[in-house]
Amino acid sequence: MRFIETWTPATLVATRDLTPNVREFLIKPDQFEAAAYPVGSHINVSVTIDGLPETRSYSLVGEASSHGLRIAVRRAEDSRGGSRYMWSLQPGARLDITQPASLLAVDWTRENYCLIAGGIGITPILGAAQALARRGADVTLHYAVRSRREAAYLDDLATMLGDRLVVHASEEGSRLDLDALFASLPRGTLTLFCGPMRMLDAARHAWIGAGHPLPDLRYETFGSSGTLPTETFTVRLKDSGVELEIPRERSMLDVLNASGFEVISDCKRGECGLCAIDVVDVDGEIDHRDVFFSDHQKQSNQKICACVSRARGTITVDTLLRADAV
Ligand code: FES
Repeated sequence: MRFIETWTPATLVATRDLTPNVREFLIKPDQFEAAAYPVGSHINVSVTIDGLPETRSYSLVGEASSHGLRIAVRRAEDSRGGSRYMWSLQPGARLDITQPASLLAVDWTRENYCLIAGGIGITPILGAAQALARRGADVTLHYAVRSRREAAYLDDLATMLGDRLVVHASEEGSRLDLDALFASLPRGTLTLFCGPMRMLDAARHAWIGAGHPLPDLRYETFGSSGTLPTETFTVRLKDSGVELEIPRERSMLDVLNASGFEVISDCKRGECGLCAIDVVDVDGEIDHRDVFFSDHQKQSNQKICACVSRARGTITVDTLLRADAV
């Protein structure tokens, strides 16, 4: 599915602190119709980082409501600046946002559903839990957090799901054992996952190891989560003598486009693969943060999704044409 980015002005109506590090934002577009949006939908929000316009993508929390669109943002120390900007906003602030869009296809006809959220990954999962609970579906939500204090929407979920909510708080010594969980699920269970990249990798391996079909594991992740810390790296353009620095708060896609090297893109969430660029050399390490490439493709390091993936050191990429030269 291709996203059609229609930007619309909106107002931040209210904020609410859910945990010490997670703040909810209620946003109302100027032309607002409380139309239902698919589970797993997200919006892009125009943010300003170091005086430059950037885009950040946030999952919508819960099902559609007449009050507006809800997102929740974790204030991340390792942030590229988006969460700092969002946390600086006060009610009444004006924003530009896109229409809700979703890549998470949910088959509502299954007999069993398993929902898994890691930390702030609860945001798209909450709407799925609401929709499944309303349908009376057989659903269990596994919520992996460091502590209950840091678990956003815990009370809402407990009310909604009762003992079908299982909290795995590492501070309490309770860790989510994905191998054991997936081995216990009946065939045909549809699992919806949202969590950091490391957890997604573990989930994919455990899912395949348990013999479930990979298409029955549907997932979302956040582009800000990788296996390496977010740091400045260098992109060298093959045969051109051009080197570009990608600062920690900007994506490779944004820097390349701003420098006149046009890279087409669509989702900007590491999902569609449209922004993939050929890599010819890696002096350091690539941190693949997309969910588009397979493990094998990631290990081969032949391509990189410029919208979310990053690197340590210097990577050399091929065949970028300067937009004003073609
Ligand atoms: S734009 Fe979709 S993966 Fe980068």
